[in-house]
Amino acid sequence: MKEIVVFSGAGMSAESGLKTFRDSDGLWENYDVAQVATPEAWSANPELVLRFYNARRQQVLEASPNLAHQYLKKLEEKHNVHVITQNIDDLHERAGSTKVLHLHGEILKSRSANNPSRLFEQKRPIKLGDVADDGYQLRPHVVWFGEAVPELDNAKSVIEKADILIIIGTSLNVYPAAGLVYCARKNAKIYLIDPGDVKHPNLKRLEVIQKSATEGIPILVDVLMRAE
Ligand code: APR
Repeated sequence: MKEIVVFSGAGMSAESGLKTFRDSDGLWENYDVAQVATPEAWSANPELVLRFYNARRQQVLEASPNLAHQYLKKLEEKHNVHVITQNIDDLHERAGSTKVLHLHGEILKSRSANNPSRLFEQKRPIKLGDVADDGYQLRPHVVWFGEAVPELDNAKSVIEKADILIIIGTSLNVYPAAGLVYCARKNAKIYLIDPGDVKHPNLKRLEVIQKSATEGIPILVDVLMRAE
């Protein structure tokens, strides 16, 4: 049994119909991220930010896990698998993966704008005036640009234990998340699955599978299911 860590990004959910961030001129669903995904945007126009994330939540609720999510669940039959995802959707969980760490938060949760540890399940849209039980406005439980990444240290200690690291569908553009891949042990085997040309300076022992998630993951999982 191997310790396997999957590090996923937006490309993991692309074939479930959720758009990646950097495939349309740096725009996310036609918005500049600075307008909708920063603390400054929240202060300047909370209604726009809520509307934007309400739409993202609705898309997630209407999406389903794809074949790649399902194959990663299957990998748990043979190995100890941790998923570290930059995605705010719950598609890994819905496919059945049991150990999922969300680096950038979860769109199906909300929290008090005044207290990050007051979390709530959130399936409905959040409106201006919807408050947490402490009386403060609810905001989406996501990490915005310029905010700290509270799960970073937990993610680091998971990656440090990996025998095998599988990087899927991330441009490795956004730090500090992208820097995590460099925390893998010297002798860990690293796979990168992405149909694009991801820049990965200094990643040693890297095997690139230049395919989409639903093509590349089943091939790799079939190989790993035979590994002891
Ligand atoms: N299968 C696998 N990978 C794919 C697919 C697919 N079907 N389609 C696209 N990709 C790849 C792209 O080639 C690209 O390398 O997915 C990657 C997506 O990169 P980004 O859009 O930059 O997404 P990500 O790396 O997850 O972004 C990181 O940035 O906007 C913030 O907080 C947000 O978590 C996000 C973070």
